[in-house]
Amino acid sequence: MYSEKVMDHFQNPRNVGEIDDASGVGTVGNAKCGDIMRMYLDIDEDHIIRDVKFKTFGCGAAVATSSMATELVKGRTIEEALKVTNKAVMEALDGLPPVKVHCSLLAEEAIHAALWDYAEKNGIKIEGLEKPKSDIHEDEEEEEEAY
Ligand code: FES
Repeated sequence: MYSEKVMDHFQNPRNVGEIDDASGVGTVGNAKCGDIMRMYLDIDEDHIIRDVKFKTFGCGAAVATSSMATELVKGRTIEEALKVTNKAVMEALDGLPPVKVHCSLLAEEAIHAALWDYAEKNGIKIEGLEKPKSDIHEDEEEEEEAY
């Protein structure tokens, strides 16, 4: 049912964790299943994504697609990262079963939410970036994290 690449990224997910003082953090929820994904981006002054980490409360397909998505955006520019769609991630994983396609959206949206956060923090506008509808912006949580 799952490709070897999906199984590999599910069993050995890359870039799991958090980044302290990340340039941008995005948390999104999947309306279909309620699963949650958080993405941390470390972006330098040249707009290159130096590091990326993710955490998820999601299924195996969400873990595998996020793992692959982090590999695809690491070391890339913001503009290049915007081209990492869920379709591109699925292709890199040699496909997903149709019932699991919605899981792959979490990774794409979490990256967009983290970029949105980065843009807001820096008072810039990223061409072509829209705020994901599934963005979960928890002010209370941010306050907690500030301590
Ligand atoms: Fe929720 Fe896959 S079932 S993300």
